[in-house]
Amino acid sequence: MSGSYDFTADWFGRFAEIWRQVLKQHPAGKLLEIGSYEGRSACFLIEECARERPIELHCIDTWAGGVEHNADGMAQVEARFDANIALARATAAHPVAFHKHRSASHPALIQLLAAGGGERFDLVYVDGSHQAPDVLADAVLAFQLLKVGGVLIFDDYLWSMEAAGAQDAHNMPKAAIDAFVNVFQRKLTVLGAPLYQLYLVKTAA
Ligand SMILES: C[S@@+](CC[C@H](N)C(=O)[O-])C[C@H]1O[C@@H](n2cnc3c(N)ncnc32)[C@H](O)[C@@H]1O
Repeated sequence: MSGSYDFTADWFGRFAEIWRQVLKQHPAGKLLEIGSYEGRSACFLIEECARERPIELHCIDTWAGGVEHNADGMAQVEARFDANIALARATAAHPVAFHKHRSASHPALIQLLAAGGGERFDLVYVDGSHQAPDVLADAVLAFQLLKVGGVLIFDDYLWSMEAAGAQDAHNMPKAAIDAFVNVFQRKLTVLGAPLYQLYLVKTAA
């Protein structure tokens, strides 16, 4: 990434090259991110997508941290998010219409659906709560907001809070992502990609 951003964590960098390939195949102008933290993935999306065209980006986060985070420093995390997004927007090649939703994901997604009638995003990135019930609801609501032909990306497909051999399915996105993909199988295609994230395309409403 090009700007002098202020990041203290990098959960995203190792996927950047895969995302560039996905975005080349599926150009995105309207984007939604669930779980933004300091804005690392959001700034990447601004740099990559606004290089080609004006974009609209919505970021949803409580900025309270998930169960796996120490919630103490989250005010500073949010301040870094604000500064990083401002920098990415100021240096973007094309305008970025930016919408920050400081909220739990489910009410924010329901509000977006109610406001716009659904099916309007080219790309949705699900990286908020890692608890299976939350991820399942994020997936179902995000899918309703995704255009046919749009891309849905899940982070942490293979993440678990507990050590290998002692996992609790409640604390893993995988059970929710698998359930979602199985139930919606007639309406999506899973893209071939390395497996820590899961990439799919909506093929039917
Ligand atoms: C792993 S971080 C996101 C990382 C970010 N996408 C990046 O690449 O740097 C997960 C974020 O999800 C947020 N979060 C956790 N549960 C949430 C929920 N139920 N609704 C909205 N945001 C949530 C946390 O506050 C945290 O900032």
